[in-house]
Amino acid sequence: MKTHKDRNLLPDLIIKNIGQLVTVAGSSLTPKTYSEMDELGTIKNGAVAIKDENIIDVGQSNKLENKYKYNNIKIIDACEKVVMPGFVDCHTHAVFGGDRAGEFIQRIQGITYWEILKKGGGILSTVKNTRKLKLSELIKTSSMHLDSMLLHGTTTVEIKSGYGLNKKDELKILKAIQNLKIIHHIEIIPTFLGAHTVPLEYKKNPEAYAKIVCDMLSEVKPYATFCDVFCDKGGFSPKQSEKILSSAARLDFKLKMHVNEFEDIGGISVAIKLGAMTVDHLDIIKPSDILKMKNRGIVCVLLPGVTFFLMKNTYAPAKMLIEKGLPIAIATDFNPGTCPCNNMQLIITLACLKLGMTPTQAINAATINAAHAVGMAHRIGSIETGKQADIIILDIHDYKQIPYYFGINHVNTVIKKGKVVVENKYLIN
Ligand code: NIG
Ligand code: FE
Repeated sequence: MKTHKDRNLLPDLIIKNIGQLVTVAGSSLTPKTYSEMDELGTIKNGAVAIKDENIIDVGQSNKLENKYKYNNIKIIDACEKVVMPGFVDCHTHAVFGGDRAGEFIQRIQGITYWEILKKGGGILSTVKNTRKLKLSELIKTSSMHLDSMLLHGTTTVEIKSGYGLNKKDELKILKAIQNLKIIHHIEIIPTFLGAHTVPLEYKKNPEAYAKIVCDMLSEVKPYATFCDVFCDKGGFSPKQSEKILSSAARLDFKLKMHVNEFEDIGGISVAIKLGAMTVDHLDIIKPSDILKMKNRGIVCVLLPGVTFFLMKNTYAPAKMLIEKGLPIAIATDFNPGTCPCNNMQLIITLACLKLGMTPTQAINAATINAAHAVGMAHRIGSIETGKQADIIILDIHDYKQIPYYFGINHVNTVIKKGKVVVENKYLIN
């Protein structure tokens, strides 16, 4: 007869009959580098046992069945399909007003991102549309983007502010994010990006705006884990970035930096000096900077959806970064200007076709290494005993089919913190 204690050790949910269980196990302490990027720890005929929010057992389907007998346990039959960790989208700007579909047409007619910005469009038009919205409206529209992410298998997302560009509206965005954390199943890591661009009212005095961003830091601190700066053409200089980020570090923010998307203006040295957790974009990067970053623990977050959508051909040198031993993650950069796509499966395809990564490398970059990019690899990013049960079931039989059948949502079921939140491709409330 089972004791009460035994019952406490029993799972309350088991996913059985998994054709290919992609665990991504073994790299929770440090991100995957070099040949670790070529392993996914797959198990044939696997099963996963879940109790409450966590994974309590992983193994062969028949072994788990013998062990737990499957009495009084909710069973999900994966029907021999692929099961893997939920995607971690470690770089997005998902809270904004309006869209820029009109600009899209201008850009395909040959007008550049910068020409549109000069005419008061681009990022500044999104700032206008975001400032216009009430907090409740901002929450409603952003929540729809998060629904779409969850339906496409993203279980954790980093979201930056940055379309407010004054204290009131930056706080409004961060409060929207805080609200979404409560009302939405998706897990959110909030980042303050007051230094996204210089707002129109400070165009003639960017230095003064950089100072205002520094002054916002203590007030936004309760709402954000990370502080980020756009250190690039059209953004902030390395000197301004250093000033903002070092003030942020003193207040205990963790640091991220947008660098080398359009031009290399020297942001990487600042990231190294201040111990940033990630450098993001890296479309243009000097070999000497690659060497400088080695063994610093900085995760390189690559965003091929942006390069693709801006119709550029300067893709980040992912293969070289892997060869040199730098940890890399991939993300959408979901935003209305440079990547209005929030589907990590399509980003995996672009990582393969445009960055030259293998499907195995791209999946490592979209799960465990992306979890490292947000400082959460101890809890998410892989299917291992003791980790949070963030798991997706896909309507395919081999993970290589994710990038291959591209532009298709393969995700059938999403489990977040042990709870089924998407079933048969529909959200469950
Ligand atoms: O990461 N400035 C950069 N931020 C975004 C673009 C924002 C926009 O165009 O709205 C990026 O590419
Ligand atoms: Fe970005």
